Amino acid sequence: MVLSNVSRLLEDLKRNLKEGANSSDCPICNGKRVITKRNSLGLLEIVGPCDCTKQEYYKKIIESSGLKEKFEECTFENFNAYSDELIFAKSMCKSFVSDSLAKNLLLLGKSGTGKTHLATAVCEKLLNIYKKPILYVRYRELVQRLKGLTLSLEEREKFIGKYKNISNLYIDDLFKNMDKRYETEKQLVFEILDYRYSKRLKTIITSEYNLKELLSIDEAIAGRLGERAKGYIMVFDNVKNYRAKRIKEDMSKRYKSFSKGSG
Ligand SMILES: Nc1ncnc2c1ncn2[C@@H]1O[C@H](COP(=O)(O)OP(=O)(O)O)[C@@H](O)[C@H]1O
Ligand SMILES: [Mg+2]
Ligand SMILES: [Zn+2]
Repeated sequence: MVLSNVSRLLEDLKRNLKEGANSSDCPICNGKRVITKRNSLGLLEIVGPCDCTKQEYYKKIIESSGLKEKFEECTFENFNAYSDELIFAKSMCKSFVSDSLAKNLLLLGKSGTGKTHLATAVCEKLLNIYKKPILYVRYRELVQRLKGLTLSLEEREKFIGKYKNISNLYIDDLFKNMDKRYETEKQLVFEILDYRYSKRLKTIITSEYNLKELLSIDEAIAGRLGERAKGYIMVFDNVKNYRAKRIKEDMSKRYKSFSKGSG
């Protein structure tokens, strides 16, 4: 957790303790949000946050992840690993989740192959297991937002700082529709990723470019990503577009029942 968040949480806890908070809130702490005990001098001492505070914090980080709606739709359970490549991809993503030291996950390849689905399932599991904040951002939105603002240095640092410091960052569709004339785009990505690289923070990336193409776009960025990803890179080479696959299967199903009906 970022230091300012910790101190804010502590301030909240102290205030609740002083004000007695709402006693109907939680039967364990009576709404004080913390577990207390009397020390040897008979003074109340905070032992730690109550479970209700932890749960509230967990709910908050799910809501601020930007993935809440996608979590139900994109799970490991409903990911159909119908080929060897996908069986491998799913298993690699699960290993990434359980490897607490893993830093980068790179899912690369054509559109519709299930990259975002798997990355979202990874984020849900990371949140669930490690209970640390996650931020999801589409690459185009990230650069568009930055371009749209006339920021002072301080504002820019605040804006970028969010993506630099978050425990887990997921950038979807890295370099999608990149404006090649816009060097600032690369600078922005470099600044965020280089900082995360140095702090060894978890970063999940999906992109329609393969590693070679990423390297040709920006060697420094792709090199760092590749280095930290180690065994957690997957290029969806031979995977079909799942949207197209679904439509085709649905059509063939309807055709079969039509033929039966008319036969
Ligand atoms: N193997 C799969 N099993 C189940 N659903 C899938 C699979 N691959 C893709 N999908 C679904 O197909 C749609 C497109 O997948 P998505 O992950 O967005 O592709 P990408 O990010 O590679 O463009 C999503 O609705 C996703 O849930
Ligand atoms: Mg995607
Ligand atoms: Zn409580």
